[in-house]
Amino acid sequence: MKKHTPLLEKLFAKDYQLIDGTDEIFELDLALWEYEALSKKELIDRSAYLKSVDGKETTHFRTCNLQNLEEVHKNSSFRTKVFFLDGKYSTGYATHSLFPYRGKFHPQLIRALLNILDIKPGHTVLDPMAGSSTVAVEANLLGIDAISVDLSPFCELMGKVKTFALNLDMNILESIVANPKEILEKLKKDRAPEYFKNNKDDKKRSYYEIVLLAFLDTVGFAGRSNSSIDKLFPRVLERYISTIKYFQEARQKMDLKIGRSKIIQGSVMKLPIDDNSIDAIITSPPYSFAIDYLKNDQPQLEYLGHNLEVLRQEMIGLQGRGVENKLEIYFNKMDQALGEMKRVSKKNAPVVIIIGTNDIQTNGVRLETKVIELGEKQGLKFELNLKKPIRGLQNTMKEESILFFTNQK
Ligand SMILES: C[S@@+](CC[C@H](N)C(=O)[O-])C[C@H]1O[C@@H](n2cnc3c(N)ncnc32)[C@H](O)[C@@H]1O
Repeated sequence: MKKHTPLLEKLFAKDYQLIDGTDEIFELDLALWEYEALSKKELIDRSAYLKSVDGKETTHFRTCNLQNLEEVHKNSSFRTKVFFLDGKYSTGYATHSLFPYRGKFHPQLIRALLNILDIKPGHTVLDPMAGSSTVAVEANLLGIDAISVDLSPFCELMGKVKTFALNLDMNILESIVANPKEILEKLKKDRAPEYFKNNKDDKKRSYYEIVLLAFLDTVGFAGRSNSSIDKLFPRVLERYISTIKYFQEARQKMDLKIGRSKIIQGSVMKLPIDDNSIDAIITSPPYSFAIDYLKNDQPQLEYLGHNLEVLRQEMIGLQGRGVENKLEIYFNKMDQALGEMKRVSKKNAPVVIIIGTNDIQTNGVRLETKVIELGEKQGLKFELNLKKPIRGLQNTMKEESILFFTNQK
């Protein structure tokens, strides 16, 4: 047999170990990019894909291990348990698992992007179509400040909870949730929206929002299963509290300095943000009309008292009739969105857009090709397209593109 050196040994020096499950080509690509861009110390402190350097375990690896996900998911369904334990280092850590938002980023990918783009504490990163605020959580974990904007008020709630829960007082949270039955009765009587409208300055408001998110998670969960809200809520709430508790313990042990977040309900086409103020943008727009985000979150939005039809007018990907007309409106809105990203970001700031195409829905029109064209037209210089596969039997979309631009001003 001819002598063969395994690929990983060719790519990484002997004392650099990858985290288990780093097995996609795009992940190896990003791991290699981190490895080439960061110093040894930086890799230990910040790397997304390395497990250890010279025998010293990385912060990410240690934090995930400290989070005790086995205990957090002891009452979860078998499917959920396997999903989070398998994705321990890529999806299930910190506060990312608090609400299973559809189409959310792999947090580990965002961590790697922040490293590669050289975004550090002192910088501000923006996601102007933030969904569940994966970018903000990941940035905050690295001590970086973040701004999330999303049109959906439910996304605003998710973002607030997930970022607030990174750094809170566990004693206050535990005293608030001491009686889940009583909370459930209050929430079922629809008093929550009223309370949140009338108590904008309540110091405990952010703690109540955690309970509200757990309740809204339960509402969705009960709709998909044949169990009742009464039965499910205490279990979901317990999972939320233990997720946060174990993360708080890990944060203190690891002495993580958490960045600040601003979570805003607003439109990417009219960002409430100053010109030239943002150091980097990482975002993922709706993939044309692949997912109706309002319909998905209808029970939650209605409970919170929002009019879906008003939101629908401004939501990217939800207007028009027939493929051609829908795509025309979609690209029009994306053009405005890219113009706003250009306006708010600093000269030479990186802008990363992650987008996939469902050929069957778009009659073969490739969204990434058009987004590159629109970005260049707006003055964002296109640099690179890294392809990322989408797994899963039911997905008709097979691939996403990670598009890298720089703002030329
Ligand atoms: C692909 S999802 C983003 C998911 C996100 N990356 C995450 O990790 O959760 C796209 C998001 O764009 C938001 N969106 C659609 N139209 C918008 C608009 N005009 N302004 C701001 N956000 C918008 C949707 O509400 C949805 O949350």
